[in-house]
Amino acid sequence: MDAAMLYALRDPAGVPSHPLVFLVLGVLTWALHIAAVQVMLGASALTLYGAFSRNPYWRRLAAAMLSTAKVAVSVAIVLGVAPLLFVQVIYDPFWYTANVLSARWVIGFIVILIVAYLAMYLFYYRNPRLATQPVRGAWHLVISLLLMLVVGWIMHVLSYQMLLPEQWMSWYAPNGQIDPSGKSLHGYSVTRFSFFILLSVAVVAAWLFAYRRYLMGRNAEDAGYIAWLLPLAHRLMLVGGVLAVASGALWLATLPEKMAWFATSAWIWVSAAALLATAFFPRLLGHKLDQSLWGYVPFALGAVALIVVGTAREALRYFTLFGSHGYDALDYKVNMDWYSTSLFFITFAVLGGVILGYLLTVAWKAGQTEGVYTPSRAITRLGNLSIGLLVLWVVQFFAVGFYVWAR
Ligand code: HEM
Repeated sequence: MDAAMLYALRDPAGVPSHPLVFLVLGVLTWALHIAAVQVMLGASALTLYGAFSRNPYWRRLAAAMLSTAKVAVSVAIVLGVAPLLFVQVIYDPFWYTANVLSARWVIGFIVILIVAYLAMYLFYYRNPRLATQPVRGAWHLVISLLLMLVVGWIMHVLSYQMLLPEQWMSWYAPNGQIDPSGKSLHGYSVTRFSFFILLSVAVVAAWLFAYRRYLMGRNAEDAGYIAWLLPLAHRLMLVGGVLAVASGALWLATLPEKMAWFATSAWIWVSAAALLATAFFPRLLGHKLDQSLWGYVPFALGAVALIVVGTAREALRYFTLFGSHGYDALDYKVNMDWYSTSLFFITFAVLGGVILGYLLTVAWKAGQTEGVYTPSRAITRLGNLSIGLLVLWVVQFFAVGFYVWAR
């Protein structure tokens, strides 16, 4: 597939802002997406393990991690849409071809995701008191976890097929016979997928440090449980760190020839340093983990490490498509649209900041309060402001739409 053909597949309308904006936002939102995915996978696995334990602390953890997993799925889905939008803007020739080649799986993706999420809720429905009562219908959660992995596998194949334009024709027309069914998943790398999935162990360990720090703000009855969580989080972080390094090395050792440059690039050294720093940091902190906000730092550091890993992943894509196929994602024709660009950033910063700030504050305070939580006047004002901003946003959106339509 030559560069001219790839360029011909671009949208002739161009993109509404500089392509670098989409590239950077794509990396940032993907890092957040994969963080939520990893919390969800790790929390589901801990739930399954804890649900069969006789240890009351394990059972309590299972119940808490089930709640975490339920929320993490929805966060992963919302944060999955953002990179989906960005990748199809600047890499449209690759993303759409990869999708069409496996079209049935792309459509099946959403059905599988719905069944996976429902299975998780069925498990929750059947186990409202997981902390104290014997587990029922554990297979629901096993199915949910397996289907979530299938969903991730589909996303992996799409991300990977886009890197292999030289194979598209042989997938579309094997032996010269056109197969437009889209029924197959053609290109994949088990080692690359394993690396992203196994990172869940370290990410959920970082999550456990934050979880126990959060519990410290509540009541003294939790002391035994909080003490029990600490060595568990340390152990998981150690295992997670080893798994991340081992599976990452295996991925790099199995890179196809045209991507082999990546294995010895600076991107890898920086990513490895970020991951190792995350793995060792809780040990360095020692007792500080229990003081002020330090308990949350391992998770914050993990998020930064994931942004670094996401940047390296993007470098692999950008330079492979540029170096081997002559496609430069950053030379997309710009058809500047100031309204949509400023609307995006204002929505993100102002509405996102105020509304998320309100919701997180309420959730945080409610979780730290014994009995019924009553918000202060300042927080209530923040809630009213959130509603006002949403109304204003909807009104301006339709007003501008009607104005443009009537012109
Ligand atoms: C809930 C289960 C999910 C899992 C386990 C999962 C896992 C993954 C993994 C492992 C990757 C990296 C693939 C690779 O680079 O090889 C990925 C990429 C991606 N995921 Fe998810 N994902 C899930 C759900 C979703 C959903 C619901 C969406 C969208 C609505 C989504 C959107 C994306 C996109 C767009 C990418 C590629 C981004 C890019 O290449 O720039 N994912 N996902």
